This record gives sequence, C-alpha cells and structure tokens, in this order.
Amino acid sequence: MNTYPHEYESSLQQPAKFWLQQAQRLHWFQEPQQGFELRSNGTAAWFPDGQLNLAFCALDYHVDDGRGEQTALIYDSPVADCKATYSYRELRDAVAQFAGLLKKQHVKKGDRVVIYMPMIPQAAIAMLACARLGAVHSVVFGGFAPHELAVRIDDAQPKLLITASCGIEVNRVIPYKPMVDDAIAQADHKPGNVIVWQREQCQAELQAPRDIDWQSAVSEVTPAECTVMQATDPLYILYTSGTTGKPKGVVRDTGGYAVALHYSMDTVYGVGAGDVMLTASDVGWVVGHSYIVYGPLLRGATTILYEGKPVRTPDASAFWRMCDDYRVKVLFSAPTAFRAIKKEDPEAKLLENYRLTSLERIYMAGERLDPPTLEWTQEVTGKPVFDHWWQTESGWPICANPVGITEYPVKPGSSTLPVPGYDIRILAPDGSEVEANEQGAVAIKLPLPPGCLTTIWGDEPRFIKGYLSEFTGYYSSGDGGYKDDDGYVFIMGRTDDVINVAGHRLSTGEMEEILAMDPAVAECAVIGVADELKGQIPLGLVIVKDGSNVDPDELSQRLVQRVRDSIGAVACLRQVYVVPRLPKTRSGKILRRLLRQLADGEQQLAIPSTIDDPNCVDELREQLQR
Ligand code: COA
Ligand code: AMP
Repeated sequence: MNTYPHEYESSLQQPAKFWLQQAQRLHWFQEPQQGFELRSNGTAAWFPDGQLNLAFCALDYHVDDGRGEQTALIYDSPVADCKATYSYRELRDAVAQFAGLLKKQHVKKGDRVVIYMPMIPQAAIAMLACARLGAVHSVVFGGFAPHELAVRIDDAQPKLLITASCGIEVNRVIPYKPMVDDAIAQADHKPGNVIVWQREQCQAELQAPRDIDWQSAVSEVTPAECTVMQATDPLYILYTSGTTGKPKGVVRDTGGYAVALHYSMDTVYGVGAGDVMLTASDVGWVVGHSYIVYGPLLRGATTILYEGKPVRTPDASAFWRMCDDYRVKVLFSAPTAFRAIKKEDPEAKLLENYRLTSLERIYMAGERLDPPTLEWTQEVTGKPVFDHWWQTESGWPICANPVGITEYPVKPGSSTLPVPGYDIRILAPDGSEVEANEQGAVAIKLPLPPGCLTTIWGDEPRFIKGYLSEFTGYYSSGDGGYKDDDGYVFIMGRTDDVINVAGHRLSTGEMEEILAMDPAVAECAVIGVADELKGQIPLGLVIVKDGSNVDPDELSQRLVQRVRDSIGAVACLRQVYVVPRLPKTRSGKILRRLLRQLADGEQQLAIPSTIDDPNCVDELREQLQR
C-alpha cells in the first residue's frame, strides 16, 4: 500500500500530533504532552515538557528490555589490526564508567566537552558518556589541524578535552597529543583537563596535573547515573564550514533529535532492532553522530565503527568483507568512497570473494550521487542503491526514498522525495515558488521538524542571518535544485562558498582568508573544481603584490602548505596558480562561477554583461589549460 503521501501530509498538516505519536516509541522519564512551542524566530522547540536522557534510550533501555547480550557495536580496524565487539550491556557499563571519570573531573550538565579522537570505540564511549551526564559534546574531526581545533575550543569553551594518543591513516601513525597541546597553546580558552586514551601504536606524553590517563584513571571511579534532561536541552555542538573562516557551531537538542533519528531508522533505512548497519564515515561528521552512534543504538540495532578507508586498507574489498563478516543489512557511505572502489577494482573482481546475501540496501550522501556511480554500484552489487540529501544542520535526511513506508522507483540524479516533516519549496530570488523542473533555492518552510539545528552556538544573530532571513518563513538550505513533475527533488549544488571534497564540507572563503594572509598575495580566489574521485577539489588563484618578486612556484608551494598547516590535510588544496588578473564585475566582485567554468574546461561560459575586462577570460583559459 502506498502510505507515504498520507504520512507526509499528516506530518505537515498536524505536526504536533504526528511527532507526539512518534515520540511515544521512545523511553521518556516524563513523556511530552506538548508537540512544540514556536520560538520568536519561527522555528520550533520540540517536546518542551518532555524529559529523557539520550544515552539511557540508546543503551540502558535496551539492557532493561532484555537486549543486554546483543551486540551493540562492532569495531573493525584494518589499520590497527584489531577487531572488537561490545554487547549493549558492555557498552552501557563502559559509558557509565567513563561518565564517572568525567563526573570526578567536575563535568556536569551543560558543560562543554571537546572530543578529538580517531575512529575507535572510545570516541563513541566519550560521546555517550557526555550524553549520560548532560554535558554538551563537540566532536572535532581528527583530520583537522591544531588551528582548527583551537578555533573550536575558543568558541565552545570546553571544561575538558578528550583525545587519544594517535590516529592511523592507512599506514601512517599520526600522534594527536602534540596537536592537542599546540591547539591549547593557540587557544585563549584553556580546558581544565585533557583525558588521553593511550593506543599501543604511540604513547602520548602526559603533563600532570592537567592530563589524565584514561585507562588508569577510569578504573578508580564509580559509574555515573543518567542525568534527567529536558528535551530542549542541547546534546551537542557540531562545527561545520560556513562562508567565512569562523566555523558555525550547529546546536542539536536532545528530545527532537532522538525522535527524528528513531523515526528515520525505520522510514528511511528500514533498520530495526537486531539489524546490522555499516555507516562508513567518521564520528567527526554529522553522518557519524547520527548513523554510527545515536541512530542505530536508539533503534536497538548493531552499529559498525570502521577505522579504515574504502580502499588501501588493504584493498577495495573492505566494505564487501564487512558486509559478509557481520551480516550487514544496510551499508551507508559517501559516493566518493564508491568511486574510489570503482577506480581500484572497476570490474568488482574482489567482490567475488564475498557474499552479500544479508545486504538489502546501499545508501549514499554527503554529495550528489552521480549517475555513473549509482549505476556501477547497482550493477556490481545487484542491490538497490539510494541517494539521500541532508546536512549537518538537519541532522537527518531531508530527502530520501522512504523505503520503510513506500519504496519509490529511483531516478538517477535525484535524492527522491521530501521525508515526512520537511516541507520543501523551490524558491526564486523574490521568494515566490518556481514551477516544476525550474531551478531555484531549496528552502524548507518553517517550522523545521524535530532533529534540526536549534541555533548557532553563542550566535543566534548568525543563525537568523545565515538561515532564516533570505526568505521570510523559510529555512534556506544553501543548496540549489529543482523538483520534477512527480515531486522528486534534484539537488544541484551549493549556492554559496561551501564545497564538498571527498564528502568533507569545506569553506573556500576560509581558504581565501588563509591565502590572503601571505605577505606576497594582493588578491585571491579559491574555487571548487570538478574532480573524478573526490567530487570537487579546491583550486587557488592569486595575484601577487606589485613589486613582489617572489618565484611563482615557491609561492604556490608555500600557500599549499599554509592551508595544510591551518586547516589540515583534508583541505586537499594541492594547486595554487599565480595569475595576472581575476575576472570581476565593474563593481569589483570576483566572478567565481565563471572561474569554475573556466577551470572545468566548459565551452559555454556564463560571461555577465557587467564584466569589467572581458580580455582576461581568454588569458585565464589559456593559463588554466596549461
Ligand atoms: N586524520 C588525519 N588525517 C586525515 C584524516 C584523519 N582522520 N582523514 C583524512 N586525512 C588526511 C589523509 O591522510 C590525506 O592526507 P595526505 O594529503 O597527506 O595524503 C588527506 O587528509 C586527504 O584525505 P582524504 O580526502 O580522505 O583522501 P584519501 O586520498 O586519503 O582517500 C577516499 C580518498 C575517497 C578513499 C576518502 O576520502 C574517503 O574514504 N572518503 C569518504 C569520506 C566520508 O566518509 N565522508 C563522510 C561523509 S558520509
Ligand atoms: P554536510 O553538512 O557536511 O553534511 O554537507 C551538506 C551539504 O552536502 C549539502 O548542503 C549539500 O550541498 C551536500 N550534499 C549532501 N548530501 C547530498 C546529496 N545526497 N545530494 C546532493 N548534495 C548533497
């Protein structure tokens, strides 16, 4: 039966009733009676009278419900040559014990805790322990450099920082502690303590009394109980790239997020209690928060925490091996991961060694799923493959194939239909709705459903200006796209200075700020250009100051290094060209779209009539093609 249209309509017509019904499926200390309260900015505060604890719902509830011996988490690390499993009871106990250590260090409800960890179970344990105490965690992706960590420390003002002695990238050990020390030295705010999980690949040097050895300290404390949280209390802050160098601290609430994730596990992923989900991402990204840690555990499923790459650890069969070994039902990663597998093993010969009998569906997000990757993955696995669109801000899918209620035919290039709760409209610059098949700004009519961001940490004006001001009564997603005649949504890309590199969201504005700091640089632009493997990669273009006789190659290398030192290797800025001029409008605005088209080698250029000097277009084309 086609139940999606009915469910979708009721989620929009009677949102409070719809979501209160969904909320009943979770364990509350005090069940909410009120669906939501409207804030003055037009967004909703969900379940304002509800009380719960998310770590309780994710762990204790299942233990109490008789699921204690079921596997909650599987750790699979080809880089550390290590595998481990935690039952729900073991994970609950480890979390309660570590929460006891946090409590001993005086961490309490509302305090912030920064987590800078590789993909090891302790990262999830640290997150859940914060949730247990009501402390607000802020996980910083391990690939970010000390400067990025320092910026986040200053913004979140954590009481304490949790880290590990090292991360492992393919076969390179990356000591984390020196980076943490460097970040704390750079930051104005100093966390009181640093808790360090020592890994055997590298022992960190600890500075007493600030630094605490996780393994030895945790055995000396008593486990902590769950703190009762209001549904509207913040669970975490997750920083994401905006258009400037200052990242935005997306704030997530507790109750709305729990209800939305739980709902999505059934509706979007078709994953229930006891099913196995492999989300190959990182806890430093929203995908990791929602579908490695909280979502599967809330649903009583088994989650796999994979410390490795889709290729090279040791080869392109890593995903297939895990699907076979752990009887995975649903596999989720970024399209770039499947492009990497396709590149190394185009005929999927390695797949012949594994059985995908348990695998029912493959999901991709983080960037648009390009039709060739969709088709290849479908063909070699013989499984349905679904694109779905969402953002750090939404916390869970905005558009997806609602397979748990009705499975729709896949249209390549589309992330299918709006998920119940999301009223998606495609708007023209004047705020009017465009016709089907016409492109515009993808906006969501307020109020947003549960689970979405509630504000920007410490900066409500930025939240309003960045998301709620462009179109009155709507949330602006920052993406452009269209709906077709069947209501399928096609996301065509960002309309701002954000790019997606290998599924990692980065700000070209931030890279420009770093390039502009070099004494030889007069002006610069960073654009995202198409890349076969990573989707997009950044490219820098700089004009040197008059009289500066710096060697262009040396300058280019220096600028690449500056970005790597400041943001981290994940920025992937590998090329910076010194150019004599940049195309601009007569009012001095750099024509970035034109630059992108030139760099991508497009023949049909969008040269606006307002261009200041049309001659520079051919000059640049020649230089970029060289
Ligand atoms: N810690 C430290 N360094 C890291 C890191 C981490 N957690 N993650 C990446 N890096 C480094 C890499 O070592 C690499 O460094 P190098 O320039 O010295 O080689 C650089 O950052 C770029 O990394 P990456 O973008 O991962 O490129 P890659 O060539 O190593 O791997 C892919 C390419 C496609 C295999 C990889 O990007 C991938 O698995 N992508 C999936 C991304 C994903 O899951 N995104 C989440 C959204 S769902
Ligand atoms: P992040 O906040 O890191 O999850 O990145 C969110 C951005 O990634 C979105 O605003 C989109 O630009 C892009 N994105 C994520 N998933 C998709 C998708 N399925 N299709 C198209 N773009 C996507």
